[in-house]
Amino acid sequence: MAMAAGHLMRCGVIHPRVFPVLHPTTHRVEKIMSRGSRVIRCQVHDSRGFTTVQPKIRKVEEIESTAGQVIQCRAAVAWEAGKPLVIEEVEVAPPKEMEVRLKILYTSLCHTDVYFWEAKGQTPLFPRIFGHEAGGIVESVGEGVTDLAPGDHVLPVFTGECKECAHCKHEESNMCDLLRINTERGVMISDGQSRFSINGEPIYHFLGTSTFSEYTVVHSGCVAKIDPLAPLDKVCVLSCGISTGLGATLNVAKPPKGSTVAIFGLGAVGLAAAEGARIAGASRIIGVDRNPTKFNEAKKFGVTEFVNPMDYDRPVQEVLAEMTGGGVDRSVECTGNVNAMISAFECVHDGWGVAVLVGVPHKEAQFKTHPINFLTERTLKGTFFGNYKPRTDLPLVVEKYMNKELELEKFITHSVPFSEINKAFDYMLKGDGLRCIIHMDG
Ligand SMILES: NC(=O)c1ccc[n+]([C@@H]2O[C@H](COP(=O)([O-])OP(=O)(O)OC[C@H]3O[C@@H](n4cnc5c(N)ncnc54)[C@H](O)[C@@H]3O)[C@@H](O)[C@H]2O)c1
Ligand SMILES: [Zn+2]
Ligand SMILES: [Zn+2]
Repeated sequence: MAMAAGHLMRCGVIHPRVFPVLHPTTHRVEKIMSRGSRVIRCQVHDSRGFTTVQPKIRKVEEIESTAGQVIQCRAAVAWEAGKPLVIEEVEVAPPKEMEVRLKILYTSLCHTDVYFWEAKGQTPLFPRIFGHEAGGIVESVGEGVTDLAPGDHVLPVFTGECKECAHCKHEESNMCDLLRINTERGVMISDGQSRFSINGEPIYHFLGTSTFSEYTVVHSGCVAKIDPLAPLDKVCVLSCGISTGLGATLNVAKPPKGSTVAIFGLGAVGLAAAEGARIAGASRIIGVDRNPTKFNEAKKFGVTEFVNPMDYDRPVQEVLAEMTGGGVDRSVECTGNVNAMISAFECVHDGWGVAVLVGVPHKEAQFKTHPINFLTERTLKGTFFGNYKPRTDLPLVVEKYMNKELELEKFITHSVPFSEINKAFDYMLKGDGLRCIIHMDG
């Protein structure tokens, strides 16, 4: 029996759980074939013509919208600091006012997740669902949400944009008063409650995103709606690390053409910062890392010289000053180590040098330098999310990838099914590779 396309339209347009790669505005469902309650296949029409697709979920009843209901799904729960995550069945409550519930399709691991999971230099808060770098589809929206709808392809972001506060209205700030990063909060802003639970016991959120779950609830101001044709398994890395590094250089350090830039830390964030320096036309890009296995990979990102601080018995800032006739024009620190932050500042040239801090420091870290380093006209800056305003700017960064002005594939060195998420932690702890994409359907 052939079922009318109207059936699907009635129950939530093209439902993301059934057809995760389709989008209601670009794909028109022409015909759905079903036998009894089983959906066999469906014919869709997009800009390239007709295609037949296999739905993910085959039962007609499952197509019915889940909006307004509690969803049971898999999530990777961190029960204790530093202990492997456990895949659990969790309950995800519907979104409340100004919130959205997302189906996460791909997520990746950023070092910030690891710091808070280890909780060595950060406040412990457990049980918690980590994850903040991800791509997904809106499943349902809460009251008052007008600019997002079920089926929209989105990137959740750890820092938001309400578009109304003084920061959102200020051209230079992305530190939204309402939705700026808050690492200590484990609940939703609106009611101080968690949307996740197991047998009625709440599980804490992380960075307002908690993407290590098949479904998550996020404030709508922390969600960037992107081009539905952008492949979410690639652009998900733009939801934190790559945009942060790229923006730290392009929006904050702003190296003039022909300048010399030092990058401290050659992980994904640092190499994205190097990519920014290359795009800006820097002529020397000096990579600084304690792990020499990072150097080979870094060549693909335009890093021209390498310094391992462990090879010297004097401060690395002195080594860099010697290499560059007095100091680098710009430096970007992407390690999270306070000593590297101090070196990154002290290695910039007096008179004009600018250093930008990106790494997330230990909660008790103190930055110490002699004030004369400022008096001699060096500038120190810092940034979250590369100064991008997430909702306004992120769709444009995605467009850069779509227009082939930005390569993302080279940042993706590993991929694992969701059931093996702990492997992603092992890779990062070993310093193996850059980003590991976690496929939520595996
Ligand atoms: N400000 C932001 O908005 C923001 C966003 C994302 C990530 N971060 C932070 O950026 C940092 C990098 O993240 P990542 O995911 O690329 O991590 P990563 O672990 O992949 O890379 C960090 C690199 O720094 C190197 N390193 C560590 N200590 C060093 C030292 N003292 N000197 C030289 N090199 C050193 C490591 O060997 C590694 O290669 C982390 O601190 C993370 O929390 C900040
Ligand atoms: Zn991050
Ligand atoms: Zn705001």
